[in-house]
Amino acid sequence: MPKHTIVTMPGDGIGNQVLPEAIRVLEAVGFEAEYVHADIGWECWRKQGNALPGRTIELLRKHKVGLFGAITSKPKKEAEAELAPELKGKGHQYFSPIVSMRQLFNLDVCMRPCLSFPANPLNCIRKLPGGGFEEPRVNVVVFRQNTEGLYAGVEWTNPPEKMRDALRLHAKFTPFDSVPGDELAISVRIITRSAARRICEAAFRHAAKFGYQSVTICEKPNVLRETSGMMEETAKEVQKQYPGIQLWSTNIDAQTMWLTKNPEEYGVIVASNLFGDVISDAFAGLVGGLGFAASGNIGEEVAVFEPTHGSAPKYAELDPPIVNPIAMILSAAMMLDHLGEAARAQRVRDAIAAVVEEGKVRTYDMMRLPGGASSLALGAASTTEMTDAILEQLGVPVEKAYAISTRS
Ligand code: NAI
Ligand code: MG
Repeated sequence: MPKHTIVTMPGDGIGNQVLPEAIRVLEAVGFEAEYVHADIGWECWRKQGNALPGRTIELLRKHKVGLFGAITSKPKKEAEAELAPELKGKGHQYFSPIVSMRQLFNLDVCMRPCLSFPANPLNCIRKLPGGGFEEPRVNVVVFRQNTEGLYAGVEWTNPPEKMRDALRLHAKFTPFDSVPGDELAISVRIITRSAARRICEAAFRHAAKFGYQSVTICEKPNVLRETSGMMEETAKEVQKQYPGIQLWSTNIDAQTMWLTKNPEEYGVIVASNLFGDVISDAFAGLVGGLGFAASGNIGEEVAVFEPTHGSAPKYAELDPPIVNPIAMILSAAMMLDHLGEAARAQRVRDAIAAVVEEGKVRTYDMMRLPGGASSLALGAASTTEMTDAILEQLGVPVEKAYAISTRS
């Protein structure tokens, strides 16, 4: 019996191209696991009227760890138009299966490492005052609250009268009270102290484990006094348990400016949902962008690891595939860490670092080429060739085939 069972959810588009590559690497480092395939995404929506089928939920509930590729999602009208004819007009409503997964399993801690690999041509560089350039080493991990805040989904256009009544209790609503309903949209920012505490604790725990000197809470408490105020207050409380780690407080707007000037000064950053989403994308952009951005959605019981990128439909049909599998492979390495396989995770990251540093094998994004089949003729590596190079660094024979088990 393999030690672990992993629920694999390739999803749509390039999710199907990159996820198998991650499994090749997991097998190469001797990770003993059985992989159980589960459906998710647009095809499920079209055929079943549900992008997150019950079987997938059951598998995650049973096996607790998921590797997820990417999904396609489309606006409301297109979602309805693409439903199978027999499902149309039956009241099916599209809902993002990623958000559903996060809510269903309370995957409230989103962890997004942004680590620069030396010699990555996509790394940010900085102009030196005396001429020339330098490349700051970025080693940031963003902890983003994943289930609340402005993404909680409590929102209206034309809010119901009772909602208006409630808002009238607040003096600041007065200037908006005369706005006609269909011209008024409201999204509610919800922060609970317990979720704030969990994300702050996760951030400090990580900082302590990996020797970071500081944790930065990135909010806007001077304006969003209640919600960002609660986040900051909670971070201060949690810091008391970690006297060796400083707490810095930055505002999201200033932080996005500073990170392009001195990104190496930041370590662990913690933020609420929207701000964490923004700041983690901003840091990811400094270290290679979507081809390198990995993430983990971690709950008390279940955890799902996924690249940040989407299904990139325009590249999904290319054969051979051209997209960069590194973001997916780094997500799998995060999964290894989560499962207590830190040494194997580090081997994976070291192998990627070596391939990037050597610079011989680069996917189109790393060469700053336009995507498309023609990139291969211009010297870009295919998806598989990038994985092959990583496997070679790991010192294992390159095998191209793999099969996902369908046992449940
Ligand atoms: P996307 O992330 O799929 O692609 C944007 C562009 O980034 C691509 O066209 C490509 O140029 C580049 N890119 C993405 N992944 C790459 C990789 N591994 N290697 C090299 N280049 C890569 O975002 P887009 O085009 O906005 O959305 C496409 C679909 O994906 C939409 O249906 C969207 O809703 C969905 N989406 C899903 C996400 C998820 O599953 N977590 C996240 C973001 C978007
Ligand atoms: Mg995002």
